[in-house]
Amino acid sequence: MHVVQARNLRKQYGQGKGIRAALDGVSLEVPRGEFLAVVGPSGCGKSTLLGILGGLDRSYQGELELFGTDTRKLRDPDLAELRGRRIGFVFQAFHLLGHLSTLDNVLAPALFAHTKLDREARARLTGRAEKLLADLGLMGRGSDMPAQLSGGERQRVAIARAMLMEPELLLCDEPTGNLDAHTGKQIVEVFHELHRSSGITVVGVTHDELLTQVATRIVRLRHGRLVEAGNEGEPAVAPDAARPSEAGAKAALDGEEAAEAAAAGELGTEVP
Ligand SMILES: Nc1ncnc2c1ncn2[C@@H]1O[C@H](COP(=O)(O)OP(=O)(O)OP(=O)(O)O)[C@@H](O)[C@H]1O
Ligand SMILES: [Mg+2]
Repeated sequence: MHVVQARNLRKQYGQGKGIRAALDGVSLEVPRGEFLAVVGPSGCGKSTLLGILGGLDRSYQGELELFGTDTRKLRDPDLAELRGRRIGFVFQAFHLLGHLSTLDNVLAPALFAHTKLDREARARLTGRAEKLLADLGLMGRGSDMPAQLSGGERQRVAIARAMLMEPELLLCDEPTGNLDAHTGKQIVEVFHELHRSSGITVVGVTHDELLTQVATRIVRLRHGRLVEAGNEGEPAVAPDAARPSEAGAKAALDGEEAAEAAAAGELGTEVP
């Protein structure tokens, strides 16, 4: 079964002469258990694509099935419910709530869900949140506020929050974009381990090479269109099959793109 089945997604911004195609006919299938990296330079449509795949943005043309359900047939609240229950999001800027403790940030998806939590459910979820924090190296930090955490720690909290409801699909938008190279590598290892241990399906969009090193398949987005990368012409690599080599992953970033990324200080350069 495919977790994501998208056909001919199109999205435009602007009007009249200022109209721009952010997505220009993207078709994509993501089988269960895949770790897909979508790479491409700034402005190529990565965040736009992720917003559509995650059901955050409905103003597009084309078809989108999530978990075998045609999302166009779902009412907004039903799509929101599917999203809350089955999809986790991790963003570049962490998006933690500054007035909530670390633990409450992890619990936020449950606290703000439409269904009220009874005491038993709350205790169970709190236990799960504490375990996620501990697994992510943040044991005992539950009462700290986000301002007391480093960037890498904040992203770990965001990952714990994304995993709270035991999603089947994890969507990540430049999850290492605000981190230095060393911390970014640690966060990518967290994703790698999560994928390895839980078999969760991951779709990560990125313009750096880190995420591609642990992905099982790499596709490239260019000017709103998708092309296979790293393993051109090959079927999607099964989750447990050998990962693409580092060289293969790097090949996903062609010369021009690598130059763009390097110029932006994204490729392997240590942020002071
Ligand atoms: N709200 C908006 N209004 C107008 N144009 C937009 C809007 N959001 C995105 N765009 C345009 O759509 C295109 C794709 O944007 P998108 O944010 O998806 O790119 P991206 O690949 O995520 O870039 P980055 O790597 O910088 O995050 C860009 O040309 C951008 O300027
Ligand atoms: Mg983006």
